[in-house]
Amino acid sequence: MHVTAIYPGTFDPMTVGHTDVAERASRMFDEVVIGVAASKRKNPFFSLEERVSLATEITAPLGNVSVQPFEGLLMRFAKSIDCRVVIRGLRAISDFDYEVQIAGVNRHLEPSVETVFIAASQDYTFLSSSIVREIARHEGDYSSFVHPVVVDAFQRKYAELGEFGE
Ligand code: COA
Repeated sequence: MHVTAIYPGTFDPMTVGHTDVAERASRMFDEVVIGVAASKRKNPFFSLEERVSLATEITAPLGNVSVQPFEGLLMRFAKSIDCRVVIRGLRAISDFDYEVQIAGVNRHLEPSVETVFIAASQDYTFLSSSIVREIARHEGDYSSFVHPVVVDAFQRKYAELGEFGE
């Protein structure tokens, strides 16, 4: 049986923590779709197109990984691409309560889709996209937390905006 898994997130931007989870998932499943959520309520720094394009470049070396944007319910998107598994990364025990709650809701919405948790590598348990954005905004060094294409994207974006944050 060919199993497609979806790894969803806002990926604003994708970090090395996300890449680690995606890489490990790609070894477990026939196909992995990185589902980039529009997440309008989060008011992302990078546009949906930019987030998709960065995730596509970063995961290009992983042969069985592709990237797709989605809006609305994750389970509806998962069904539409005939996906049976949702991957979630767990960084710390603090992620657990929330993730189990969401997994329960998703299972209720679509019982045929299973949620599989992958424990984030020890090195990345503190990492999040907002931490990366915060360091970038203050012109600190975040280069070890992201792929070089993300550093370029921040530089381009701040050049467009004309200034760094306060
Ligand atoms: N490494 C680094 N950072 C990680 C990580 C990892 N392994 N795992 C999670 N994170 C970070 C994320 O980057 C994010 O950082 P940020 O808040 O600074 O941007 C934070 O941890 C929270 O992650 P997460 O809970 O995965 O949020 P998300 O915004 O990335 O993704 C969706 C959430 C898109 C998966 C979820 O909102 C969704 O499914 N939305 C669609 C609507 C829906 O169906 N909801 C569920 C039913 S109610």
